[in-house]
Amino acid sequence: MLTAIPVTLIPGDGIGPEIVDATLAALDALKAPFVWDRQIAGLEGVRVAGDPLPKPTLDSIRRTRLALKGPLETPSGGGYRSSNVRLREEFQLYANLRPARTIVPGGRFDKIDLVVVRENLEGLYIGHEHYVPIDGDPHAVAMATGVNTRQGSRRLLEYAFEYAVANGRKKVTLVHKANIMKALTGIFLETGLELYGRKYKGRFELDSVIVDACAMKLVLNPWQFDVLVSTNLFGDILSDLVAGLVGGLGMAPGANIGVDAAIFEAVHGSAPDIAGKGIANPTALLLAAAMMLEHCRLPDLAARLRQAIDATLNVDQVRTGDLGGKASTAAFTKALVARIAG
Ligand code: NAI
Repeated sequence: MLTAIPVTLIPGDGIGPEIVDATLAALDALKAPFVWDRQIAGLEGVRVAGDPLPKPTLDSIRRTRLALKGPLETPSGGGYRSSNVRLREEFQLYANLRPARTIVPGGRFDKIDLVVVRENLEGLYIGHEHYVPIDGDPHAVAMATGVNTRQGSRRLLEYAFEYAVANGRKKVTLVHKANIMKALTGIFLETGLELYGRKYKGRFELDSVIVDACAMKLVLNPWQFDVLVSTNLFGDILSDLVAGLVGGLGMAPGANIGVDAAIFEAVHGSAPDIAGKGIANPTALLLAAAMMLEHCRLPDLAARLRQAIDATLNVDQVRTGDLGGKASTAAFTKALVARIAG
């Protein structure tokens, strides 16, 4: 018997409950030892508790230090800050790990195996923004302040470099815009080069590239990259680009790793355009669950889950609409559970 592992479960908004149900069915079939503490957040949190991040949800994560979450919508208006950003801050989830690997071959790009490591707490995401009114126009000028610190950059870069070593990665690319934002992203580049020279030289190759050139190179020849590490905003944009290389957002998982907790989720949002239709692709959240199994030192269960996803998509050819198939979420889940059981 495996030791029980308490996990906070946040089904989330839109397609969240649908893909969470699919993921729970797969984890049940695997007999994963998770004990779920179901909590609410996002729009559901506002509806039920008047808060997109209710206290019992935060208390639960404080207790379990582990969460699996569906996408959360931030209500527009009402002055709410993004629940996702608040969760990252609350639990100091400084590293956002977003792997992208080809599972369904034959797409525009084949055999992709990339990892984006994104700084999750600093940069232009800190929300220090304001308008300057001029001549009766309240929005005449918009200003935002970005903050990157040496300590924050080093902590994230160290995580990325350790990840590269632990996973046998050959190359890490620092993505920046230090030619223009010399201080804001220069500190990240400078810290990365210094850390590599001091501690990691020879353990993998390190190079650096300006973010706009990186976007072009990713589309022309993504195979030249291995691990990409960047500041908050660039990392966010590039990880969506990289998800597009492997079949879109339905295939992209993410892990938010921190000092106080780890939260696993799909990269995509609540997909309001398809919510409730039973057609969402649960693969991204399933892959996030596989990352969570690895995080909990259950690599055999993670490998079985990944193999079952692969077989369902490629041998059984059961695919949801975003992958060009016709299967509903329920039909995909049924086929996946049969693969796990078989
Ligand atoms: P989105 O990722 O929800 O949807 C973009 C497009 O991808 C839509 O056409 C959608 O149908 C499709 N899509 C996304 N996931 C899919 C899946 N699993 N299967 C099939 N198709 C899928 O992005 P959008 O529309 O910009 O955001 C909607 C809401 O989600 C917003 O309120 C946003 O703030 C929130 N959001 C939450 C995130 C989180 O909780 N981590 C991340 C991104 C957005």
